Parts: sequence; structure tokens; C-alpha cells
Amino acid sequence: MNRRDFARLLAIGGAAPFLTPELAWANNAKLPPTPSVPDEKFWMSVRDQFVMPKELAMLNAANLCPSSGPVLETMYRLTKDMDQDPSQDNRAKLADGRENTRTLLAQFLRVTSEEIVITRNTSESNNLVSNGIDLKAGDEVLLTADNHPSNHTAWQEKAKRFGFTVKDIPTPNPHPGMEHYVDAFAKAITPRTKVISFTHQTSTVGDLFPAKEICRVAREHGILSLVDGAQSFGLMDVDLGDMQPDFYSGSAHKWICGPKENGVLYINKTAQAKIWATIFSAYPGRVGVSKTFEGFGQRDEPAMIAFGEALTFQTKIGRAQIEKRSRELTQALMAGLKKIDDVKIWTSPNPSLGVAIVSFLPGSLDIRKLATALYQKDHIGCATRGGQDRPGIRLSPHFYNTHADIDRTIAAVKKYMTTGV
Ligand SMILES: Cc1ncc(COP(=O)(O)O)c(C=O)c1O
Repeated sequence: MNRRDFARLLAIGGAAPFLTPELAWANNAKLPPTPSVPDEKFWMSVRDQFVMPKELAMLNAANLCPSSGPVLETMYRLTKDMDQDPSQDNRAKLADGRENTRTLLAQFLRVTSEEIVITRNTSESNNLVSNGIDLKAGDEVLLTADNHPSNHTAWQEKAKRFGFTVKDIPTPNPHPGMEHYVDAFAKAITPRTKVISFTHQTSTVGDLFPAKEICRVAREHGILSLVDGAQSFGLMDVDLGDMQPDFYSGSAHKWICGPKENGVLYINKTAQAKIWATIFSAYPGRVGVSKTFEGFGQRDEPAMIAFGEALTFQTKIGRAQIEKRSRELTQALMAGLKKIDDVKIWTSPNPSLGVAIVSFLPGSLDIRKLATALYQKDHIGCATRGGQDRPGIRLSPHFYNTHADIDRTIAAVKKYMTTGV
């Protein structure tokens, strides 16, 4: 591919907003050790580990995160090794690497390897749960109203097939507080309730749910709990040993900055006898629940091993530091947006009720046009939310963002709110 072809590939709406000079891996500069109080210089060196052009401020972690250089390199090195010698003898080591990723996942989530299934993404993980639990007419599943289709439509469709019912707990805006949801679940439970499911942090406006408390309420009533962790895995310093859900799902291509089409499903030891596997094929995992649940046929083992590299990368930086950094950037963003006339922020102003997702309505500006201008003219990546439910722009900063990205974003939104798009 020559430079012109590549520019064409990058072009959005027919115009190439900027050129990536070459398909080079990340800056080879070594990641320095994390200082006890990381400063902006340290976070810039984290940014250098990613191949995104310097002028690109991607604030769309809730949708897709780039892989870091070490992840890309692992994937490339192992894929090349496998394709140079595709023999079973050579590939045997890849199966060991896959198990190593399981161990790393267990350490990362603070549970055991016997409880980890490496899936393709959160959608698959959520559906393995809604497919796998025996539910029948008369049973009830309690969901929060604000869930991704993989944890909402999926239950509704299976309810049609198996005859159980699905009840939604309303999710008012702004976030009504943690206690509200603990009470709402406790009050909505009936003797028919068999499963409770909700999203740890919603992808719409970034409402955080009291996961540990809701799982406790479920457990006290003998109800199974599924926490959709697509928007917390790799962002928050999640401790499943403490949260104690029955199931927790996540994707590698979101906040953990791993390869695409890898994900995780945690199945608590105590819940393993209560769920059936959906897919049976060759090449399952070697330990615990993965022996029955992870037989998905031939896998992309280099990518699975690179998933482990992503976990190591974040662990090396420090997970608590990553969460703190993302929260700090988000608060700076909220503070700046709040000062712009006519910007209506949907996300709760209370920092303890969210983490790193900010959604806002930019007055009467055309949302799509604004997003395109932000990307093409200002090199700022965001997501748009159409429809009637809290529409607007969604920004989700992560540890590869800098304060300069945030300042530039606030200034750009202010400019378009003044001049139009
Ligand atoms: C809360 C939530 N759950 C599930 C998903 C699905 O993730 P994936 O497409 O990686 O399966 C998403 C994707 O944005 C999400 O935000």
C-alpha cells in the first residue's frame, strides 16, 4: 500500500484529515517506571506507546481503544512465527501462551483461573450467560433499562423463546444515586426472580452502578447476577473477589487496549453448576470452567496471547493510577464543558456516580456535523448518540489522553458553539 492508498483508507467523507506518516509501530522509547505521583510528562510517555499520530486526540475509549505497541508487536511476532511454521509442534507453545493469558486475567480480576473463559467479546460473554441458564415460564429476569443490546435484546429474545419474563428497572437521568438502585432492586425482587443483570458503567452517559451491593442483594435472595463490565474492565481497578458477581463480562478491544475479538467471561465457582455451555467443539481451555465452556474450535492464539500483553502493560503502569488518571481527565472535561453556554451535560456532575464517560447535547448544533468537524478539522475523535434518549456527543478519555487533549476539546466545542458548524 502506498502513501496515497493509505491516506484514502483513512479518509472520512472523502477528505483525508491528516496523514499517518508510515505504518510504524509505536515509538520504541521504553515505558518508564510509574512515579509515585505520575506527572504529565509520565503520561506523555504512556501516550508514546501508542501508534496514533501525535495530533490525534481520541476520546472514544468506550467504543474502541487502540492497542499499545507491545500488544501489536506480540500479535505480529507470534502470527509471523505461526505462519512461518504452522506445524502442530511449533504451535504447541501457543496453547501454553493462551493459558498464561488466563492466569493473567485471573490475577487482573482477582479471582482464579478456573473461573475464566476467554471469549470473543462482551456480546458473546453476555449471551453465553443468557443462553446457558435454565429459565422457564414463571421465572423472571430483572434488568436495568439502560443496557447494551447484548444484555437487553438478548434477554428479551430468549424470554420469547423460553417463556420467562423480563422486567426493567428504570434508569432516570441524572443518576439518582447508588442507594436508589440498591433499593430499586431490593423492592423489585419477587420469589420468581432468578437473574439480575446490569451494566457496571453505562455506555450511554457513564452512570456507575453499585455492583457489589446489587450482587450482595441478589446473593441474599439466591438470585444469579451478571455484571456487564464492557465499560469497567481495563478502566476501573475491578476486584471481582470483592464484588462477588456470578458472572462478569468484558471486551479486550475497549479500555484494556488489547486485540480485537477477544473478551472475558468470569463464571464464579459457585455458579458453574447452574449454567450450561452453549458451544461444543474442539480446542477447549485446560483448566476449570474453560474445559467445558471454551471449546470454540480453532482460535487466534497470537491475539489471545497479545491480550495477556495488554493486561501486563496496564498492570505495569498501575491499575489504580490508570483509573485515577481517567477520572481526573473526565472531571477536567466536565468542568470545561459546564462553562459553555447551551451545552447540556447528561452525565452526573457527582464524580462518585461515574468514571470516564461524558455525554452532552451541544445546544441545537447538528451532532453528526459537529463530530465530523471535530475529527476532520481538529483531529478529535468522539462518538455520537442519535435518537431521543439523551442524544449528543459522547467523550470517553483514557490513560493515553493528556490534559492538552482535554483543553483542545473544550476549546473546539466552545468554538463551534459560538460559530456553528
Ligand atoms: C455496556 C456494553 N456492553 C456490551 C457491549 C458490547 O461490546 P462488544 O461489541 O465488544 O461485544 C458494549 C459495547 O459498546 C457496551 O458498551
